[in-house]
Amino acid sequence: MKIAVIQGPNLNLLGVREQNIYGPMSLEQIHEQMKASAAQNGVELEFFQSNLEGEIVDKVQECLGEVDGIIINPAAYTHTSIAIRDALAAVNLPTVEVHISNIYKREEFRQKSITAASSTGVIAGFGPFGYHLGLISLTQIINEVKAMQEAKQQQEA
Ligand code: DQA
Repeated sequence: MKIAVIQGPNLNLLGVREQNIYGPMSLEQIHEQMKASAAQNGVELEFFQSNLEGEIVDKVQECLGEVDGIIINPAAYTHTSIAIRDALAAVNLPTVEVHISNIYKREEFRQKSITAASSTGVIAGFGPFGYHLGLISLTQIINEVKAMQEAKQQQEA
């Protein structure tokens, strides 16, 4: 099983930016922890971070046929990007949207996620641990989807 982890703008500065909100862990440290937990479950991870909306759209499109699911933190684009939402809807893969902070108790402009409608589920407010939760949830969802597809194939055979 292969999962793409897509990180939006300014997340490359985790550990430096607004530590009171996002904590002291760097993105690299978060990814290392995810790798360790993925390896235990036989999951392969591919990491991507960009500060540019179009690059994130390209990356989501490239996921088609390449990975079984997506973990995405669109960061500030969460609240603005119809393009990322459409890209996620287009590839139609099992997707978990992760936010380190609880966007629902922050400024009003952060309380709405435009992209979330294209995700299977959303995790917010658990700090970097949210990525771990995202990984566990997405692995479960992908396994369920695969089991359903196999059952359907058997019925049709
Ligand atoms: C964020 C929340 C967004 O509102 C913000 O723009 C980010 C990070 C989070 O992970 O909590 O950059 O997505």
